[in-house]
Amino acid sequence: MFSKGLLTAALARTAIAVCDRTFLHDWTALYLSAQTTGNLALLTNTLFPNLTYTEQFTPANISSGIISKPLNITQTRSFLDEYLCTTFTEIVVTDISHPYVIGVRAAGDGKIIHKIETLVTDQGDWLFNATGTAYYNAREKWDIIPLAERDTREVIQAAGDAYFDRFGNINITVPFGTPCARLEGGAYTDASFTNASTCHLGLPSTIKVRDRRYVVDVQYGVVNIYVGFPGLDRASKEPAPDSHLFRVEKGKLRFIHTISTCEGHPGCGLNGTYIPIDGGKKMRVRRRGKPVVLK
Ligand SMILES: *[C@@H]1O[C@H](CO)[C@@H](O)[C@H](O)[C@H]1NC(C)=O
Ligand SMILES: *[C@@H]1O[C@H](CO)[C@@H](O)[C@H](O)[C@H]1NC(C)=O
Ligand SMILES: *[C@@H]1O[C@H](CO)[C@@H](O)[C@H](O)[C@H]1NC(C)=O
Ligand SMILES: *[C@@H]1O[C@H](CO)[C@@H](O)[C@H](O)[C@H]1NC(C)=O
Ligand SMILES: *[C@@H]1O[C@H](CO)[C@@H](O)[C@H](O)[C@H]1NC(C)=O
Ligand SMILES: *[C@@H]1O[C@H](CO)[C@@H](O)[C@H](O)[C@H]1NC(C)=O
Ligand SMILES: *[C@@H]1O[C@H](CO)[C@@H](O)[C@H](O)[C@H]1NC(C)=O
Repeated sequence: MFSKGLLTAALARTAIAVCDRTFLHDWTALYLSAQTTGNLALLTNTLFPNLTYTEQFTPANISSGIISKPLNITQTRSFLDEYLCTTFTEIVVTDISHPYVIGVRAAGDGKIIHKIETLVTDQGDWLFNATGTAYYNAREKWDIIPLAERDTREVIQAAGDAYFDRFGNINITVPFGTPCARLEGGAYTDASFTNASTCHLGLPSTIKVRDRRYVVDVQYGVVNIYVGFPGLDRASKEPAPDSHLFRVEKGKLRFIHTISTCEGHPGCGLNGTYIPIDGGKKMRVRRRGKPVVLK
């Protein structure tokens, strides 16, 4: 007879390990080839016939989507979650003919991908500056974490969740590390490279961030969370489509990358009034005479 503990552990393992890392790795590599060449056909055999595809969280036609445009990719980072069978890839394109920062989240079953959600940011999206993204991104270290130093997926995910929970409750303790820096669109909280803990700057405290979708990569200490971000777009009542990528080391947040789109409102209502973050000062914007603290 199985002991209850053993049986539970065995069930938990079979219930959650839904796909092979190699599948996710190979699919991500194929996706990047398809995006580089603008050739969706490369992916055809890997996609569910009735694939769910969205851009900026809105159902879209993948055949005419971003992947149909060949892009000269400057940088990528990919993370794989074999337990949720999800992947997230950050793509930076500095090509002056059309710069982009793109997030690609895919979900499958280990044999086929049934859902792809892309967030395509370019000029007019939240603090967009692909050159800035590439510049700060290249200075950060997101290496594979040695086996003995890895956090559990629960610890990694909890660090990202605490950050978003703090948006709605100022009393939540977020495990900020030192250094900690946040890269949003192209703006950086540690632009003078002080190596200080700067991720806490400019967070809201009255915003409930719901509908979180995760990719947790234990090998890299990374959690990606897709959310609807209410209030980010000052010009809209709708939550802004948003991705946050968190690097966690020994339970502490070290780097955060955001990708947020401004739907129909260039600059998310920040145009003309935005004062860039500088030397650790809080980001502030004046709107209708009232200071608003940004995330
Ligand atoms: C395809 O997917 C859509 C939305 O997910 C669903 O409404 C529809 O019934 C599906 N069609 C088939 C043939 O499975
Ligand atoms: C999707 O886009 C492709 C390429 O532009 C086009 O041929 C096709 O008709 C579109 N499908 C739908 C359902 O609009
Ligand atoms: C891609 O970008 C690199 C660096 O800017 C450049 O050297 C190269 O010529 C570009 N390739 C294409 C095909 O545009
Ligand atoms: C974008 O970022 C680069 C690198 O930090 C900076 O030199 C440039 O001024 C920025 N552009 C804008 C429009 O802010
Ligand atoms: C945060 O803590 C302070 C002091 O204990 C308390 O007055 C306040 O109500 C708390 N706020 C929330 C949102 O829990
Ligand atoms: C910040 O850290 C980097 C990498 O460890 C180091 O090269 C740099 O000198 C540090 N800067 C400061 C101001 O301490
Ligand atoms: C700011 O953007 C809005 C669109 O969201 C536009 O209507 C308005 O003219 C812009 N204002 C300035 C000063 O550019």
